[in-house]
Amino acid sequence: MKLRFLGQSSFSVEMGDKHLIFDPFISANPKAADINIEDLKADYVLLSHGHQDHVLDAEAIAKNNEATIISNYEIVTWYGAKDIKGHPLNHGGQWSFDFGNVKYVNAIHSSVLPDGTYGGNPGGFVINNDETCFYFAGDTALTWDMKLIPMTSPKLDFAILPVGDNFTMGISDAVLAAEFIECDKIVACHFDTFGYIEIDHQAAKEAFAVKGKELIILEVGEEIEL
Ligand code: NI
Ligand code: MN
Repeated sequence: MKLRFLGQSSFSVEMGDKHLIFDPFISANPKAADINIEDLKADYVLLSHGHQDHVLDAEAIAKNNEATIISNYEIVTWYGAKDIKGHPLNHGGQWSFDFGNVKYVNAIHSSVLPDGTYGGNPGGFVINNDETCFYFAGDTALTWDMKLIPMTSPKLDFAILPVGDNFTMGISDAVLAAEFIECDKIVACHFDTFGYIEIDHQAAKEAFAVKGKELIILEVGEEIEL
């Protein structure tokens, strides 16, 4: 499968013939100035929580593509009032979509939508199909609940974890998270977009490497095959 970094916590993923976009915050992100949201294809837009740096472009991308939003009940309902179709999940629940299975899992964070509407509790996603299984953590602290993922899901091929600290876990906690989820290939997100979350790339990679794990730090717009 192809994974492309769109800045902050946003990624596009191709699974089979379906296009997924996670947490789009692109049009107001100076680091993503070369990405035009009009060019993005999406069958589904997955939103981990309601904060602006995760949902900013969800409405435009969903409407351009007639995409389905997958998120918690509160967020899907909010977009439903804007005539965007959605599939609501809540923690611990999973659903089999035409691209694979999606489970909504715990995150420790907060969640409010841009207009102040309650955004439900924040979450992450564990997604699997016949080819792959991965975890998109969303914004979260390190949490003991991460240990439930390897107990309840297929072996993870990779995980997308926040590493920028201040609003989420930082590097050292993310290394522990990688151990909790029993995953050796981690893709970094939620770093460098704002001053509070700048990281030292080399030090971050080394912190993972000493534990036998790989931290992949993509350039905005970069695409890799996983
Ligand atoms: Ni957030
Ligand atoms: Mn965030």
